Amino acid sequence: MKLNELFLETRARLIGAGLPASELEAEWIIDHTLGVTAIERIQQPERIVTPLECERIKSIIGRRVSGEPLAYILGEKEFFGFKFKVTPKVLIPRPETEHLVECALEWVQDNFTKGEPVELLELGTGSGCIVVTLLLLIPELKAVAIDISDGALDVAHENSLKHGVSDRLELIKGDASQTSALIGDKKFDFVLANPPYIERADARVDAFVRKFEPAIALFSSGLKGLEISSNWIAQLPQLLKPQRSAAGFEFGYNQAREVEGFFLGTGVFAKHEIVRDYSGHERLIWGMT
Ligand SMILES: C[S@@+](CC[C@H](N)C(=O)[O-])C[C@H]1O[C@@H](n2cnc3c(N)ncnc32)[C@H](O)[C@@H]1O
Repeated sequence: MKLNELFLETRARLIGAGLPASELEAEWIIDHTLGVTAIERIQQPERIVTPLECERIKSIIGRRVSGEPLAYILGEKEFFGFKFKVTPKVLIPRPETEHLVECALEWVQDNFTKGEPVELLELGTGSGCIVVTLLLLIPELKAVAIDISDGALDVAHENSLKHGVSDRLELIKGDASQTSALIGDKKFDFVLANPPYIERADARVDAFVRKFEPAIALFSSGLKGLEISSNWIAQLPQLLKPQRSAAGFEFGYNQAREVEGFFLGTGVFAKHEIVRDYSGHERLIWGMT
């Protein structure tokens, strides 16, 4: 079979299964399995695909049409233009979360001079996509990242090695509801988190997200699923340096007012802003002391 025929067949199967982004996913499946770049794929439509490669792609399509997320099948996901390893032990990095990285980059650029050291604490690091991206983009940055899941920490460690930033990242296993017990009285220039913030009973959660992604990364108890966010934010006064520090937290579609209340309740932020995501939803809060 020729490459262009295989591409059209793959795309047709994904469209037939009613999957959104079928064209893009067909491209990713082909490029990943054949080890070609997008340009090579376009330039070699007549390339012959071996029966083994066809079988591999068929098996991927079978898993995908039964609902398994493509990132878990391929074992990777792009975030902020960088490729991250992912396994079913970690949340698949979401495009919305890129806004947290953008806010952090802008804040560091506005408040630190070139060569000046900067220290970051991330709570609930998962795949490490946020912290590793920032370490890649800010050479002066050193970071500590905490997660309760061994599986997630293994993936974060692999991602830090893959991107060559492991020497500036300390990964700590533990419960971030007691961060000081894990890090002592150390204070940071900025703290970031994309905490588990979904209420278990929320009927809007996609069935495949619920089935395949780790519950510990998704759900939190309390009113509207805000227990973990409230707890982590309440610790910020102990975690931030008293001056020129900041914190950014992602939150759910209906949580802006409550999370803003938690930020104000800390009493440490002189100003804050709520930032919207690519779809126009209020998605994160950025506070500055
Ligand atoms: C929503 S995921 C975010 C992962 C990653 N930062 C991202 O944005 O893709 C939340 C992460 O918090 C971790 N987590 C959940 N409860 C925790 C706790 N009590 N202490 C530390 N980490 C926790 C989960 O294992 C998961 O990796």
